[in-house]
Amino acid sequence: MDNLIRLKEVDSTNSYLRAHCSELPDGCAVTAELQTAGRGRRGHNWAADCGMLPLSILLKDPPECETLTARAGLSVCAAIEKMYADPPKIAIKWPNDIIIENRKVCGILCESVCFGDSLNVICGIGVNISQSEDFFRAENLPNAASLLTLTGAAPDRGELFAGIVSEVRARAAVPFSECFEEYRSRLLNLGNKVKIIGSEGERIAIAEDIAPNGFLICRDENGVFEVGSGEVSVRGINGYL
Ligand code: BTN
Repeated sequence: MDNLIRLKEVDSTNSYLRAHCSELPDGCAVTAELQTAGRGRRGHNWAADCGMLPLSILLKDPPECETLTARAGLSVCAAIEKMYADPPKIAIKWPNDIIIENRKVCGILCESVCFGDSLNVICGIGVNISQSEDFFRAENLPNAASLLTLTGAAPDRGELFAGIVSEVRARAAVPFSECFEEYRSRLLNLGNKVKIIGSEGERIAIAEDIAPNGFLICRDENGVFEVGSGEVSVRGINGYL
């Protein structure tokens, strides 16, 4: 059993795994042809369209939980690259927006679920496979684009689903220290002036580096501080990047 669940339609693949968490095994993953009520980070909606590949993976009691979002980002990059003979250059905007040619092709939402004594993580991934530029314009998402419009070819949904799941399962099993340099080398906001947007407002700082736990190390006029991916969104001071 490969523990890959394929649905026709679902409200949210993250919500599906949350509802079925107790009866599903570690590493189990779900996708759907259409996700109607997807959720993004920090309470945003995630637009529904058949051109988007939604998937979620259940990780039971994973070590170094706080680094899963980074490891999932690397997994998506690797899986997309394997779909192309001549892969596009793929970068990560900290913590986990997957970027090609300055446009977002994938977002990641990791959520934790306590079940008895265990802490499980649901790693939700939405890949823009084949939406048109008109779709993103109509949804007022100027920073997003699909693999189809950026590369000229849409990867097979089933293959990309299986590929991402296999990469996430593999990376979830190794210490983050083994992925650390790869993650750092993919990050496109290190050294940049960024706007950190959190529940308590905005703060401008220089994104200097990442910490061993995946936190972003920043510096402003008051000194050095670290931010975790669960708390904030990070943008360039004049726009998305
Ligand atoms: C972001 O805001 O960038 C994160 C978006 C995450 C969307 C994916 S789609 C599959 C999974 N199910 C959800 O409801 N959300 C995630």
